Amino acid sequence: MERWRCTGVVALVLLLALAASSHGIRDLPVKNSDQSFIYNHTVAMTLVEYASAVYMTDLTALYTWTCSRCNDLIQGFEMTSLIVDVGNCLQAFVGIDHNLNSIIIAIRGTQENSVQNWIKDLIWKQLDLSFPNMPNAKVHSGFFYSYNNTILRLAITSAVRKARKSYGDINAIVIGHSMGGAMASFCALDLAMKFGSDSVQLMTFGQPRVGNAAFASYFAKYVPNTIRVTHGHDIVPHLPPYFSFLPQLTYHHFPREVWVQDSDGNITEQICDDSGEDPDCCRCVSMFSLSIQDHFTYLGVDMEADDWSTCRIVTAQSVQQLRKELASSVLMTRHDIDSEKVEPCFPLKTKAQLEDFIQIGM
Ligand SMILES: *[C@@H]1O[C@H](CO)[C@@H](O)[C@H](O)[C@H]1NC(C)=O
Ligand SMILES: *[C@@H]1O[C@H](CO)[C@@H](O)[C@H](O)[C@H]1NC(C)=O
Ligand SMILES: *[C@@H]1O[C@H](CO)[C@@H](O)[C@H](O)[C@H]1NC(C)=O
Repeated sequence: MERWRCTGVVALVLLLALAASSHGIRDLPVKNSDQSFIYNHTVAMTLVEYASAVYMTDLTALYTWTCSRCNDLIQGFEMTSLIVDVGNCLQAFVGIDHNLNSIIIAIRGTQENSVQNWIKDLIWKQLDLSFPNMPNAKVHSGFFYSYNNTILRLAITSAVRKARKSYGDINAIVIGHSMGGAMASFCALDLAMKFGSDSVQLMTFGQPRVGNAAFASYFAKYVPNTIRVTHGHDIVPHLPPYFSFLPQLTYHHFPREVWVQDSDGNITEQICDDSGEDPDCCRCVSMFSLSIQDHFTYLGVDMEADDWSTCRIVTAQSVQQLRKELASSVLMTRHDIDSEKVEPCFPLKTKAQLEDFIQIGM
């Protein structure tokens, strides 16, 4: 066991060393000059709170917007759908931020006790899926399927469509941290294709790379209003590795990175270039000082799950009601849901199976 772990770490360092040694070779340009989603600290502070709240495991508190992370800076939020895919351990919510006059879509990152292993696995992710209808664009299938082939895609697009019907064609802002940022990216692309690029904004925190340079170019075109926040020495944005001497084969971030650093409480936010791989932003961090710790706070906000031990759902109040809603669809919403549309993606076979996953707190 120890030996394997050691090998993994050595391989990681070697790969990152290789990636670092490739600095200076000209990068493929990935332009998005028509960006209108300008980084604004106040807005980012609100959005990072949503990315943090979606990790909460008490679904009742989350749904009623009374969770401990729910009210810091995000009053004036109206939850419209809570989406839980118990089988795949995925969680997301959709609602309206009345201050920003926008639909908020927040998607949770990995919730398992070994984030370390998840991060280590990131090195080996293959560009193994040709993205549909985008010649030469390749992505990692696991990231894509987590959004496309689970309950998330149909539930989110259906919730966004309903919100636009109720509130007019307001903007959608998609948010996610870590693996949730990877899923949020595919979600934003999907929504941009459905509702138009002008209606969709994306802000991710500490997301890994998800595709190659060709994919990044398409992404920048379809979702120009993208901000990819990275923090200090966070290792995750460096993975899967980037090799600039293999421009056709390597993973490549899409723009635009905003690199946040903090020292003694002073936060600096550096707006990076539109290449997606600005060598003067987080990529300038030495591979020897990359950290997992920096992955878990963004803009001073805690980005960890409040319960890492399991993927169980713990509920406290209104348990019976919640249980009924969960058993009937897993997807909870204040409006009618298109259950027949959601059904094919339903991850669990039986209600009994679902109930096994619901643990009643207190
Ligand atoms: C940032 O957003 C806030 C809230 O929408 C707004 O009041 C403020 O003027 C914006 N700041 C800048 C510099 O655009
Ligand atoms: C994405 O999901 C849709 C159904 O929601 C499916 O038809 C399509 O094949 C999926 N794409 C891929 C590449 O698996
Ligand atoms: C933080 O910012 C203040 C005011 O700009 C400055 O005086 C102080 O030296 C900074 N501290 C550090 C550690 O950079």
